[in-house]
Amino acid sequence: MFLQIVTLLAVLAITNGAVVFLGLEPQSSQGGRIVGGTVTSIEDRPWQVSLQRSGAHFCGGSIITNNIIVTAAHCLGSPTTVSNLRIRAGSNKRTYGGVLIEVVAFKIHEGYNYDTKVNDIGVVRLKSQLAFGSTIKAITMASATPSHGSAASVSGWGKTSTGGSSSGTLLYVDTKIVGRTQCASSIYGYGSFIQPTMICAAATNKDACEGDSGGPLVSGGQLVGVVSWGRECALANYPGVYANVAELRDWVLQAQKTV
Ligand code: ARG
Repeated sequence: MFLQIVTLLAVLAITNGAVVFLGLEPQSSQGGRIVGGTVTSIEDRPWQVSLQRSGAHFCGGSIITNNIIVTAAHCLGSPTTVSNLRIRAGSNKRTYGGVLIEVVAFKIHEGYNYDTKVNDIGVVRLKSQLAFGSTIKAITMASATPSHGSAASVSGWGKTSTGGSSSGTLLYVDTKIVGRTQCASSIYGYGSFIQPTMICAAATNKDACEGDSGGPLVSGGQLVGVVSWGRECALANYPGVYANVAELRDWVLQAQKTV
């Protein structure tokens, strides 16, 4: 209860010289939901995967090649290990269907910072290659940041009610890109927490939420964002914040060779 109040107050603290919103934690410990979501089939989002730890869904991810998954750095921190991590691809159900594949390695962006969430991206190498087909496909990473106002959609198995359980079926919401400058402006509540490696997306009463992290924000058929953080979910003055794929693409291309 006390923690929730602290979160609501979004208390400012000074950590390593940087001002940090204590309320802007990855929401794995907060209630929430993919707000306003619509059920989607995996054929419509064949690049979407579920990251499973010790048998349970905990984050999303996107297929980049037949053995590389892109996700959020904060999904790959402790307690995630190479041996407890599996990837489910080819199913819009988080508990069954498609294929469940082991991993051989993963890599977190060296510049990822837990407090500021900058560079919240990582790659996972699968033990066996995915067989591409109508339910399993790679998505191209955007090389240019989408402009303010572009249509973008985000999907995942995140929670469907505050404090509830994850959605059993894949959901998506349509949102619009909020450019970095706009997202950091006084129109919204984040200010300087919005860094160059981040991009925002928002829609009234629609957002990603807990359990959607690592998953894809797609615009123009390309991967433009990775679900990263937000203040609660679908709050009017607080868009969803994403790792900006166009900014981090070069890192991913390098990391997928060395992971
Ligand atoms: N960090 C969250 C997770 O681990 C995702 C938060 C996204 N929040 C939002 N309001 N868009 O699942």
